[in-house]
Amino acid sequence: CGIVGYVGSQEAEPILLEGLRRLEYRGYDSAGLAVVHRGRLQVHRVAGRVQELREEVGAVSPAVVGIAHTRWATHGPPTVANAHPHVDTARRIAVVHNGILENAVQLRSRLQREGVALASDTDTEVIAHLVAEQLESGTATLEAAVRAVLQEVQGTYGLVVLDVQRPGELVVARLGSPVVLGVSEGEMFVASDVAALVHHTQQVVHLGDGELATVRAGSYRTSPIAPVAGGAGEVEASALSAQDYDLGDHPDFMHKEISEQPAAARRVLGGRLDDRFATAHLGGIRLEPRELRGIRRVTFLGCGSAYYAGQMGASLVEELARIPADAEPASEFRYRNPVVDPDTLYVAVSQSGETLDTLMAVQELQRKGGRVVGVVNAVGSAIARQCGQGIFLHAGPEVSVASTKALTNMTISFALLALLLGRVRDLSAADGRRLVSALLDLPDRIEEVLRSEPEVQAVAKQFAGARHMFFLGRVRGWPVAREGAQKLKEISYIHAEAYQASELKHGPLALIDSSMPSVVILPDDELYAKNLSTVEQIRARGGPVIVVTNADVPGDLADAVLRVPRSEPELDPVLLTIPLQLLAYHVALELGRDIDKPRNLAKSVTVE
Ligand code: G6P
Repeated sequence: CGIVGYVGSQEAEPILLEGLRRLEYRGYDSAGLAVVHRGRLQVHRVAGRVQELREEVGAVSPAVVGIAHTRWATHGPPTVANAHPHVDTARRIAVVHNGILENAVQLRSRLQREGVALASDTDTEVIAHLVAEQLESGTATLEAAVRAVLQEVQGTYGLVVLDVQRPGELVVARLGSPVVLGVSEGEMFVASDVAALVHHTQQVVHLGDGELATVRAGSYRTSPIAPVAGGAGEVEASALSAQDYDLGDHPDFMHKEISEQPAAARRVLGGRLDDRFATAHLGGIRLEPRELRGIRRVTFLGCGSAYYAGQMGASLVEELARIPADAEPASEFRYRNPVVDPDTLYVAVSQSGETLDTLMAVQELQRKGGRVVGVVNAVGSAIARQCGQGIFLHAGPEVSVASTKALTNMTISFALLALLLGRVRDLSAADGRRLVSALLDLPDRIEEVLRSEPEVQAVAKQFAGARHMFFLGRVRGWPVAREGAQKLKEISYIHAEAYQASELKHGPLALIDSSMPSVVILPDDELYAKNLSTVEQIRARGGPVIVVTNADVPGDLADAVLRVPRSEPELDPVLLTIPLQLLAYHVALELGRDIDKPRNLAKSVTVE
């Protein structure tokens, strides 16, 4: 999306409209602007192009302050009601916002409980109401009100707030979504992209990530949004609010987070799929198509589950973009004096954004001229800031040590990245469209998998007495098996070993007997027959088998069959992973383990 703001002495509307026009090259579906005229807010919005907005504005008013926006829909369809700017009920505050608020649902329902009538389906509207609330409750400045509201919201934002009672200033803030200021004699410009400013001024200031500024005609003042932590320029990641620690009806966070996956998946996909051109929009990756085409290899770096997710990413990139891709634990990478290749795209993957090994790998890469993007959940975290560009996961806060919704969103983000890379190479529009529609469908399919929890629970009861387990898969199923074994180890303390199904006969088959259950990942893809023979090899030697599959297999194929719905084969890993989360969870529950806080582990490892 695009943002423009102006405060000065010229007529604001033509400047705002011209700025929007310059930002329109990114493709937009609605547009709007708000100015202060005769002490009142005047808002114009259209579900269409900037030219239509120009017609809607009509005769220009003498307003000298205003904000404007072109939108690419994330929350809610592209209607007039969902177009920015959004205003509070009293029409005192107007807001334009780029980014996604992850706790919008909670904030919207809180406002509704307080009797606020919401006028749109957007996440942004809450900001207008909350800022107005702050000012009504006596907060002295607009900056202080915005700062207080930003402590409450989670997610990404580049935003501009206008208060009708303070027509001489705008408050802007940035976390994970760019904001630039254009400085000129007696006037100031604000935009999400310098393209909107170059026409007016050469003097541009990039607002730092985690910074806020009050902008007046001819002056501006920046400061950190959150209290400073750990020294100059170090902005603390936004704190979790009480409701994120609220378990609701769930016995623990792992269960809560598993069940949040459909909503989390919808957020990571929100506004990022382009049906028309059958590709993905990843605004946080600032690489031109020419640069994207120049990428010769993609390397995913992460630790623990983030590394296994990276392996899923590597296979998505190879399949969809036909670029060689691999994944490596970040700590191994940094210590083996890697050859840093300028034509490789390095992808640093982390839920917390604070894992030291991953951060160090990023720094080592950057020292050697490597190009690295972050795929991170925690906005404002060290890795996100160090990378400076990438994809935010928008999974919402993850509390349980064992990663679930963040891992799912990692894999979905990699599918988006692979789609983007594929579509500037030789992935056909038809294949692109097939993936776009499968991705759109994915949250509902995840919901379907979650409905099978009682069956998974029964299987968990059956196998909770095992002392060791194998997890077997090949190609797409191999990282799924690794992640499944990792989950079981982490929270149940049962020894689990993942193996490529094809390698079983080269050694580990010797371990198979009636006390060694195997979980076999059996996608309905081109390797189905091969995987089926793995099942038979194990059963012939008396080994119990749990099959996780989206194929139409008979119930007696194995000792237990866990079924998931079909998606497109490239996306199978997302759905096949979820029963393994539930399996580990219910085995651990059966064994009375401390599920959210397994012994010896930490959610985020910030030491070596
Ligand atoms: C720790 C956690 C794992 C996690 C890994 C990477 O080891 O116990 O669950 O996968 O760190 O964490 P990150 O925050 O970088 O994704």
